[in-house]
Amino acid sequence: MENFELRPISDAIGVEVIGIDLRQPLKHEVVKEIEQAWYEHLIVLVRDQELTLDQQHAYASNFGKVAVRSQSSATEHEKKTSNTLMLITNVRENGKPIGTLPDGEMMFHSDTPYYERPLKATLLYAIDIPSRGGNTLFSNSYRAAETLPDDLKTRIGNRKALHIYDYGNQNKTDDSYDKSIHPHFAHPVFRRHPETGRSALFVSELMTEEILGVSQQESKELLQILFEHQRKQEFIYEHKWRPGDILMWDNRCSVHARTDFPRDERRMLRRITLEDEHPVLAGDPPMNDAMGS
Ligand SMILES: [Fe+2]
Repeated sequence: MENFELRPISDAIGVEVIGIDLRQPLKHEVVKEIEQAWYEHLIVLVRDQELTLDQQHAYASNFGKVAVRSQSSATEHEKKTSNTLMLITNVRENGKPIGTLPDGEMMFHSDTPYYERPLKATLLYAIDIPSRGGNTLFSNSYRAAETLPDDLKTRIGNRKALHIYDYGNQNKTDDSYDKSIHPHFAHPVFRRHPETGRSALFVSELMTEEILGVSQQESKELLQILFEHQRKQEFIYEHKWRPGDILMWDNRCSVHARTDFPRDERRMLRRITLEDEHPVLAGDPPMNDAMGS
């Protein structure tokens, strides 16, 4: 009988599972308990694990179907290892990164909102971690949605936002990307989580370009307000990685960002993702009164 404990890791977001060994298959009841905790806390951390890629796959598969990654953006090293793998690393061979998103800071985003069916979850496993920085910030998008001023909720209530990404960019520098080149899709600004039924704010600084149906000026102003709101400390947990950490986050109701770290120190994390079995659903703005239903 497995004896494990669930412990919240911050007031904002996240829970740690203590006392499980992910090299072994998990019992059905244990999986269900972790899944429920994940729905409640949005990210699930397990520390001190020594996992092969196959074992990481096995853990991920408890919660959904592991996604095959688009191979056009994968490095040779990644392709040779597995078609599901993204190696987040600054390690270079012959001057070229062997993985993806190598250096520096990265703005808040969720993973692949620019597709019609964005990824449900991401599982990141830490192998090498620099002495400082390279932390991942997680922001709770339910809380962000709930705490917006009511007039703002009304203004954006049933709008959609356009998500687009210039692959490999870690900071959005251009106001608008070329839609003929880059993948893009519009999704509801308030997204309903298929399991919890709660509405989350579904925008992010790195990947959301425009709120549709309002003037460009208004879209810009609204997005600035939303991005600032999303960055509030009260919604955020900052994860300081240790080798052996595995973290699973829910892209439907959280966003994440990365802090800077020394370029000359090795950082390597192994990322795999889960497909979403549900389409993106529109959510009601979480009003304090009965409006919007
Ligand atoms: Fe990401």
